Amino acid sequence: MVHAIRPTGVESLLGEEELIVSKTDLKGRITYANDVFIRMAKYSYAELMGAPHSLIRHPDMPRCVFKLLWDTLGAGQEIFAYVVNLAKDGSHYWVFAHVTPTIDEVGKVVGYHSNRRKPDLAQIERIKPIYKTLCAEEARHANAKDGMRASFEIMVGLLKQQGVGYDEFVLSL
Ligand SMILES: Cc1cc2nc3c(=O)[nH]c(=O)nc-3n(C[C@H](O)[C@H](O)[C@H](O)COP(=O)(O)O)c2cc1C
Repeated sequence: MVHAIRPTGVESLLGEEELIVSKTDLKGRITYANDVFIRMAKYSYAELMGAPHSLIRHPDMPRCVFKLLWDTLGAGQEIFAYVVNLAKDGSHYWVFAHVTPTIDEVGKVVGYHSNRRKPDLAQIERIKPIYKTLCAEEARHANAKDGMRASFEIMVGLLKQQGVGYDEFVLSL
């Protein structure tokens, strides 16, 4: 999704005890947002409902992280990830997200659920150069899919080097 909103570089911080909560349908369209989400993203509840979650996508987020997120959710698993989000006024906020499939009473995946809390700021300083490398790789390719494939490989290589899965990697940073 192409954004008209330009990042201002102004950062908002989540409170220590705060949780941003959202739920989506199977396509990633928002079906629920809590008050903290509304405050941080600076959209109204009405603007958020039914909108794709990419509404708050920040250009500094590598596409390959979202591929991993969707691949993991598609496999019925949960994922932890550091994400920087873009608010409606161009400000941004970092979160540590825990995204899970929502399962109905017969075990069918009916949507997804994300809880985010304030990340450790030292961990964010470690993740920033990694995301920068991945975004630079993605930008180097004229074709977006090729770029994502290349950055995904770099990410997988980084994980192999550390001998860990993505979750363990983000949790060990
Ligand atoms: C439950 C759930 C929560 C999500 N939360 C975010 C989020 O906070 N920020 C974000 O940029 N993408 C989030 N995504 C991923 C988006 O759906 C989308 O894949 C991503 O923004 C990349 O969009 P694009 O492929 O249009 O660039 C979430 C997806 C799900 C299923």
